[in-house]
Amino acid sequence: MAQKLHIKTYGCQMNVYDSARMADVLAPLGYAVVDDAEAADMIILNTCHIREKAAEKVYSDLGRMRQLKAAREKDGGRMIVAVAGCVAQAEGEEIFARAPFVDMVFGPQTYHRLPEMVARAHRAGEKVLDTDFPVEPKFDFLPGEASHPRAAGAGAAYLTVQEGCDKFCTFCVVPYTRGAEYSRPVAGVVAEARRLAAAGAREITLLGQNVNNYHGEGLGGVQWGLGRLIAEIADIAGVERIRYTTSYPADMDDELIAAHRDVEKLMPFLHLPVQSGADRILKAMNRRHTAGEYRRLAAKLRDARPDIALSSDFIVGFPGETEADFAETLALVEDIGFTQAYSFKYSPRPGTPAAAIGEQVADAVKGERLGRLQERLNAQQLKFNRTSVGRVLEVLLERPGRDAGQLIGRSPFMQAVHTEAPASALGSIVRLRITAAHANSLAGVTVADRPSAFAGERATA
Ligand code: 5AD
Ligand code: SF4
Repeated sequence: MAQKLHIKTYGCQMNVYDSARMADVLAPLGYAVVDDAEAADMIILNTCHIREKAAEKVYSDLGRMRQLKAAREKDGGRMIVAVAGCVAQAEGEEIFARAPFVDMVFGPQTYHRLPEMVARAHRAGEKVLDTDFPVEPKFDFLPGEASHPRAAGAGAAYLTVQEGCDKFCTFCVVPYTRGAEYSRPVAGVVAEARRLAAAGAREITLLGQNVNNYHGEGLGGVQWGLGRLIAEIADIAGVERIRYTTSYPADMDDELIAAHRDVEKLMPFLHLPVQSGADRILKAMNRRHTAGEYRRLAAKLRDARPDIALSSDFIVGFPGETEADFAETLALVEDIGFTQAYSFKYSPRPGTPAAAIGEQVADAVKGERLGRLQERLNAQQLKFNRTSVGRVLEVLLERPGRDAGQLIGRSPFMQAVHTEAPASALGSIVRLRITAAHANSLAGVTVADRPSAFAGERATA
């Protein structure tokens, strides 16, 4: 009888991808994915450790899992509860101490070993802990065929090409939880992209913590950068859109910038976290770029692709950040003009260098700065969205909307677009005339591919 598997995913896109691949690994063991945690025989929490709030959410959810498991055992049944991902990697054994009913704790580099771990957990209720960084790359051992869509949405798939980070920004846990940088060889990536396209993916988002530093073994033995990899994937029939995330400013090389000019399928959108606009703070963060370099990079990207939409991440209240430093962040925002952005209060993470700096900024000051920054970023986003009204944009319809008969998709610039369309249109790219702009989304109506009003203008049929 099929076992039921429930996976709850927290955090970034790579966790979404990882959850899908865990489902792939467990499918041959008879596990089928279900939405309902209560019905599950195994629950995996695929966790995020980036900020304190994300990590604490896991422990509060574990409280609920404890109740589900107790209810199951009362009825004489069994339920395996597992904590995976970055909290598992960072906290390891500590999780068993805080939540003794948890059966398995395993880090992001070990999920190809899941069948063996599940077998051990089943045997006499053994507790399983695996937070190794194994020498064998997990990608060599994961099944090729997907049992579960690696989905950003209908018609949109994630594909991890690079993992880990060697940058050691002083605020960030990623180098500790995801480990050292690793780039997958091109052949495996291209084979996976072909499978995704054959399974209906129109859009592929290449993932990596530092994706633009991709340097995988190419076809023919030489190393390839991300620009070259993107050009190769663009040749795959069925792939109509390519994106990549997340990028590190100092790693944007000329080949990749040129791809934004030359590869039509590469979408005119780039998420390029800057974190701060003050050189003093960037230095304390161990970022290997200045605010000036970031401005020049944005200009170069716009030379290559004039309509490129830029997105970013910001941290406010990094230790030692003064009002003058923060003013430089606001100045950078004004200069660049972001079409969307994420901004966070600095959250001290155990074991990272910045957490040990004496001059922490008061929470009230962080909150006040975050409010001012978000007001500017929201205004820029709305202004950009308004420039879309009246334009025709190609939109990949990815998910049902709140109202019946409504679907939501993404424009080339990553804007969410609502439209009336039948469910059968999910996963397809349609042309929409944008009729309204809101802070976080657009509304559009279908335009016929060859509007009859223009039919007479064509010289031939
Ligand atoms: N505190 C607040 N924000 C953080 N980020 C990473 N670490 C921290 C932290 N300790 C933010 C950065 C990064 C994004 C994914 O999360 O802006 O780009
Ligand atoms: Fe973290 Fe990104 Fe810095 Fe790496 S480059 S340490 S993932 S913020």
